[in-house]
Amino acid sequence: MAVHLQNQISLETSFMRQDAGKIVMDLSEIYPPIQKLVNQMASASIKEQSISYSVIAENDVDAVIRLLKDTFFKDEPLNYYLQLGDCEDLEEYCKKSIPDACSYKAVNSNGEIVGVYLNGIIRKPTEDDAAVPLASKTSHEKFKIIMQLMDYIDTKFSIFDLYPDIDAFIDGKILAVDPRYRGKNIAGRLTDYLIEFMKKNNYKIFHVLCTSHFSARVCEKMDFKEVYRLPYDEYLVDGEQVLCPDQPHVAARIFVKEIN
Ligand SMILES: CC(C)(COP(=O)(O)OP(=O)(O)OC[C@H]1O[C@@H](n2cnc3c(N)ncnc32)[C@H](O)[C@@H]1OP(=O)(O)O)[C@@H](O)C(=O)NCCC(=O)NCCS
Repeated sequence: MAVHLQNQISLETSFMRQDAGKIVMDLSEIYPPIQKLVNQMASASIKEQSISYSVIAENDVDAVIRLLKDTFFKDEPLNYYLQLGDCEDLEEYCKKSIPDACSYKAVNSNGEIVGVYLNGIIRKPTEDDAAVPLASKTSHEKFKIIMQLMDYIDTKFSIFDLYPDIDAFIDGKILAVDPRYRGKNIAGRLTDYLIEFMKKNNYKIFHVLCTSHFSARVCEKMDFKEVYRLPYDEYLVDGEQVLCPDQPHVAARIFVKEIN
């Protein structure tokens, strides 16, 4: 008897689960407050998806750094490989180009910053400008390893050699999207906003060094041109490979976008 009752209850519960959607729809037809609730739930989930884009202002800096500490500092492939941890020098590096007013944020409908592209204007150095190695500016041991890679790449590739006629270019410095929002082309939309800025302000070259396969995919999908590639297994310090991020992140690659 107990078993029979239990079977009956479980049969009824499963019937109710299957028909739950239908029952809500039927009830909502006869009971307007439920219909209103159903509509509110539907529009809330659409709103959740709506993202707005705008330039990053000085008063966004704290929120931007919070996002980067939760994302880029932890999961950019080299930071992840080295387990970078806290790094004030990287925070300063991130903040530095915000006054150039060509960095963009993606904001969700709750007002949270869910993606950023930090960009800076780089002017052609004069003959008097002495090149200061980036690695010499930090005492953070792990960050220094990444800055040494940047210094090495600077000895191998110069955008001003490739485009001798330009006086300045835009450098894509830091790109990060909240993991909950990845794979939705937010990085591409942030890039679109930067390209609009470049057109309005007559900048011809956008330069990006991608340490991640995913950011390289963003460039490839937007028809950027690859102009330099350094496989991580070919970058040796004292004969040893020092950066071995997980697959599919196999190389540091520079891409450019020419704006006509
Ligand atoms: C790189 C990054 C900004 C891309 O942002 P995004 O808005 O997800 O970009 P896209 O939607 O165009 O996806 C780019 C690639 O990410 C990968 N991807 C897709 N969905 C993903 C997900 N849910 N999670 C992780 N990666 C995903 C795919 O390879 C995709 O390329 P595909 O379109 O050819 O499949 C984001 O992955 C990120 O913040 N990474 C951590 C920080 C970092 O490494 N920054 C770049 C340093 S150079």
